[in-house]
Amino acid sequence: MKKFKFSFPIFLFMCSSLSVLAQDAQVSLQSPEDSVVISRHIYGHFAEHLGRSIYDGLYVGPDSDIPNTDGVRNDIIQALKDIQIPNLRWPGGCFADTYHWKDGIGPQEDRPTIVNTWWGGVTEDNSFGTHNFLNLCEELGAEPYLAGNVGSGEVKELSDWVQYVNHDGVSPMAKLRRENGREKPWNVKYWGVGNEMWGCGGNMTPEFYANLYRQYATFMGDWNNSGGLFRIASGASEDDYHWTEVLMRDIPKHLIEGVALHSYSVIEWNDKGPAVEFSEDQYFKTMTKALRMEELINKHLEIMDKYDPEHEVALVVDEWGGWYNVEEGTNPGFLYQQNTMRDAMIAGATLNIFNNHADRVKMANLAQTVNVLQAVALTKEEKMLLTPTYHVMRMYTVHHDATLIPVELNGVNYTYNGKSLPAISVSASKSEEGKIHISLVNIDSKKTNTVEINLGDLEAGKMDGEILSSANLQDHNTFDDPGNITPKEFKDFKIKNGTIEVTLPPFSVVMLSEK
Ligand code: AHR
Repeated sequence: MKKFKFSFPIFLFMCSSLSVLAQDAQVSLQSPEDSVVISRHIYGHFAEHLGRSIYDGLYVGPDSDIPNTDGVRNDIIQALKDIQIPNLRWPGGCFADTYHWKDGIGPQEDRPTIVNTWWGGVTEDNSFGTHNFLNLCEELGAEPYLAGNVGSGEVKELSDWVQYVNHDGVSPMAKLRRENGREKPWNVKYWGVGNEMWGCGGNMTPEFYANLYRQYATFMGDWNNSGGLFRIASGASEDDYHWTEVLMRDIPKHLIEGVALHSYSVIEWNDKGPAVEFSEDQYFKTMTKALRMEELINKHLEIMDKYDPEHEVALVVDEWGGWYNVEEGTNPGFLYQQNTMRDAMIAGATLNIFNNHADRVKMANLAQTVNVLQAVALTKEEKMLLTPTYHVMRMYTVHHDATLIPVELNGVNYTYNGKSLPAISVSASKSEEGKIHISLVNIDSKKTNTVEINLGDLEAGKMDGEILSSANLQDHNTFDDPGNITPKEFKDFKIKNGTIEVTLPPFSVVMLSEK
């Protein structure tokens, strides 16, 4: 047998590479980019008049036996405060382009009853309207994000809404607001100018919508947008890059602050698969869609940069999350689904992607808050449960408004049926107090993965760990066992010589926090 002889430097090099390769993946933290802050608005939510999202989910009415504050469930208020909900998008979604805000103000007996044509054809009595929503946001300490009606509304209607909620002086809409019991304006900054205008918002071409957008945006403020509105154009669905191209080309920069993007982790629109009893094949497909967010953001940003090299316009992913077949026995138009460890994987990995793009992604909204799609909470009469997605959102609050620490990842794959996905995802930040936080996700369905984190120039003191994991991917919380999945203390990591070695169990989310 031929013998190999190593010279001393080569031998040393091999030893150090061997020690590196002993871990499945390597992460290097770079020096923080002082200018890049992970906006807390990346952790935003979305509540539409859809199924049991508003009625039953958030709002039970002041006369309900369920403890409430001005009709909104106290358990939900507390849960949302605990995840420091930064903003809430309302009233849709598709519903937004059928919603006439004046239907939802003034005495209840004068509010018209309408039909919610998009979502189950149910009766909407408009008992939850502008005041209810904006007062709720105040109670939560969240910024409201109002989605205006462009599809079936009028320019004056949207311009009046802005005046109604934002004007402090003497004006017809400020007078009406005062007559309805609210003296001071709410000062709403975030405004969507329509929703999914390529589909439920009016089946428009991007060229047509871009012109319409210019008209609506013009009358939402004054010449200089001195009200400081953040106007968000209805964006592309997934990889419709032409849509973004036309909007960026045709809308002048002084009329637009953000352009939206919607992308759901859906297997196939005509057969989305079950929310709980899914197979590994379905899990792999869901994660393929979820991780595609990286490519979508990169490609939309490339187009935006062409027209906006100064980066004045933000990318706003105002609808994202997992979408499955509705739970059996529920109204198909209500989009009610359970939430498992698969959803925790979508949340952890997607939020890492957003964090790592924090220079351009300034806001995102998980669809949706309560009882709809990838909800953070589910309700059943007086009962409420927090989902695995909720717990990921709670663990990641440490990243809100923290300085991004860029990461380099030399990863390992999750392989299924001959196809591969990156198994590990990571993002890191430094808080105002100078504490480092690192969030790690291992999406592999079976394999424990070890990760070596090289801290580079950063000095990390002692760290605490928290983990969300479970025995089966399909595990979830139920109304009888709401604490089945909750984050636990995590100790499976070692800090030595400027590195952290972490052992990540299959399908787990871990947060390492400097003490
Ligand atoms: O979130 C549910 C629906 O999905 C929204 O109403 C619409 O914007 C999207 O198609």
